[in-house]
Formats: sequence, C-alpha cells, structure tokens
Amino acid sequence: MSVSAPPVSPLPARDRALWSSLPVPAVLVGPDGRILDINAAAEGFLNASSKAVCGAPVWDMIAVDAPLEEAFSRARDSQTTLFVNDVDVGSGQRAPLKSQLQIAPLVGAEGVMIVMISPRELAGRMTQNQSVKSAAKSAIGMAEMLAHEIKNPLAGITGAAQLLSMNLTSQDIELTDLIVAESRRIVKLLEQVEQFGNLTQPERGAVNLHDVLDRARRSALLGFGAQMKIIEDYDPSLPLAWGDKDQLLQVVLNLVKNASEAAGEGGGTIRLHSFYEHSYRLRRADGQGVPLPLQIEVIDDGPGLPEHIAGDVFEPFVSGRENGTGLGLALVSKIVSEHGGWIAVTSTPGHTAFRISLPRADAQAKNTSPQRPAPQRPDTPPEKES
Ligand SMILES: Nc1ncnc2c1ncn2[C@@H]1O[C@H](COP(=O)(O)OP(=O)(O)O)[C@@H](O)[C@H]1O
Ligand SMILES: [Mg+2]
Repeated sequence: MSVSAPPVSPLPARDRALWSSLPVPAVLVGPDGRILDINAAAEGFLNASSKAVCGAPVWDMIAVDAPLEEAFSRARDSQTTLFVNDVDVGSGQRAPLKSQLQIAPLVGAEGVMIVMISPRELAGRMTQNQSVKSAAKSAIGMAEMLAHEIKNPLAGITGAAQLLSMNLTSQDIELTDLIVAESRRIVKLLEQVEQFGNLTQPERGAVNLHDVLDRARRSALLGFGAQMKIIEDYDPSLPLAWGDKDQLLQVVLNLVKNASEAAGEGGGTIRLHSFYEHSYRLRRADGQGVPLPLQIEVIDDGPGLPEHIAGDVFEPFVSGRENGTGLGLALVSKIVSEHGGWIAVTSTPGHTAFRISLPRADAQAKNTSPQRPAPQRPDTPPEKES
C-alpha cells in the first residue's frame, strides 16, 4: 500500500466540532478513492486511528462484502447519493457487521464523498437474520428428506394406475392418465428439491463460457425456449473462466428458462452478453479483493420481476409463477457463490438483466490458496441501489 504525503482534510475548522461529535462512523474519500479523514466514531468502528488510515484506499480499509467501486464512482460522477442496505462491513481488524451505507458528495469539495456507516444496532436483527437463514436451511433439509420419501410410494401409485388402465373403458383411462401425468409432475418437482439440497461442490477447471452459453441456447431453442429469439453478443477475446462447466450450464439454463417463462407464449428476445470488466472485484469481509472480471448477462425484454418478490428472488421457495417452486434462482445463486462469483439483477418492465461475474482460470493457477468459503450475499444486490 503506497501512502504518500499526508492528505489534507477538506473540512473547514468550524465544521470540525460537528464532525468529531457525529455519533455515526463517517469517512471522507478524496477523488482518488483514498481516505482524507475519518471521525471519532469511525476510528472506533474501524479500530484504527485517523492517522493510520488516512491516505489509504477506502475499500482497503473498509471491507465491504459487495463490489461497490462501480456504484461508488457512478455516484461521485453524477453527484448523487447512494444507499446500500444490508452489506457486511468490516475492517480487517474486527468481525464484519451487517450495516447500511450512505454515500453522498461533500458540498463545496469537488470529487470528495462522505461515507456513513450505520451498523444495525439491534443485535437482535443479526440473530434474527441468522435464524431465518438456518430456518431456510432446515426447511430445505426437510423438503429434501420428504422428496426422497414421497418418490417411492409415488412410483407405486403410478404403476398401479398404469396396470388399472389396461382393463378400463376409454373414459376411465382419462382418469388414470391424469394420475400418471400428475404423478410425473410431482416427481419432477421433487427431483428439483433433491437437487437443490444435494448440490455437490463444483469440480472446477478452465471453462470456455461461450461454449456454455451456446449449449444453453441450443437446448433452449429445442425445448422450453422455442418461441424465443436468442441473440449472441459475445466478446470473442473473453478469457477462460474458473468453474464447473456442468453447473454453469445449469445456471444459464435456469436464467434462460425463467426469461422464456416470463415472456410467455408470445415469445420475446433474450440477449446472451459476455464481456470483460477489468476492475470488477468482490470485496470480502476479510478485506481481500477478489477479481471477478468475466461477465455474463442474460437479458430479456419481458415484463420484469414481479414487484412484490423482486428483493427476494434468490431466496428458496420464492416464486411469482403459479406452478413455480422458487428453487431455480436459489440454485443459481448457490452455484455462483460456490464458484466465488457474484450474481446481480436489475429489472424494469421490458428489460431484465441477470449478471454473473466470475474469476479467470489463469488467475486461479497463480493463486494456489485453498478454496475460499462461499461468500454471504447481501440481501440487496448493490448495483440496484444507485
Ligand atoms: N427473467 C425474468 N423475468 C421476470 N420474472 C422473473 C425472471 N426470472 C425470474 N423471475 C421471477 O422470479 C421468480 C423465481 O424464479 P425461480 O427461482 O427460477 O423459481 P420458479 O421459476 O420456480 O418460480 C419467478 O417465479 C418469476 O416470478
Ligand atoms: Mg425458474
């Protein structure tokens, strides 16, 4: 970390009393992204003196479990405020806390931003969140067990209905056919639940993401996405990704399937977009920045996420469709986070984009550290906040 001449706080002397009495941790960030000043509450929060952190790049000192740099510079360039809910904020010195960030331009000092950190004071909120998570976990475990147990008798029921149908009139056969068809539907659903619970760790290698996108496109056009137009918009120089190609195919298939279902029978257009973004990094709670430069987007021109579930689509059992299980995006998010990647969504009617960010394969070869634990995704995707 290069720390040059000590930075000068842009705060006039008359504001200093206010600045030091502010009970909320606050940090001033210069146009170069380095810390200019922190108040007393921030010294406490970061467990570091103002002297020690001034001059350091802000995201080196404040470890945020979300790729915020881009949203931050957008807010700075457009002189707007940025609110980010429910991110883990740490300092490398202490455990991360779920917090809300408020970021605003400092009036009268060009390019300077003020970042305020509001940890969720309510300790109960954390445990509540934790217990929601573990409740979801045990619900999934239970669903998985039930799925397994229901499949056996269901096979018996289907078999019995098929036997029965041999001696029936055609009118009654309609009924046994119904039993068979509905049982198959249940089996499918149960298999999805089982798959969600069982997902193995990714077996990672160098993956050509365009092969993955291509396979997804072809199988979509042959089946569930036959009514869609699927456009390929690839960056031909995209390097290989570090991932499990079967699991990544599952991810893209799920996204394309959702987009096709949202479009309905009338069809619509899906754009598969790949590009490279050098500066895209995921800040982990331990302060480490992990580069995720490979970007895939699945963009559709359908109606957009239903408003009432838009914030929760990655949670299991959240569905906006009549026959949905709500497991598709939960599985997608699980796979992406086990890849050390990131998924975000932006949605308005006519434009819904799911974006997946992944690491490069060759970066992995250099970095021989053992596999990192899956990051906790903040409840709100940061990109949506600006
Ligand atoms: N591309 C999209 N456009 C509109 N809504 C979507 C899209 N993708 C997902 N959704 C919404 O998110 C919900 C959750 O998706 P998912 O987790 O795959 O579960 P399921 O498809 O079983 O409902 C869907 O039911 C749908 O309402
Ligand atoms: Mg789905």
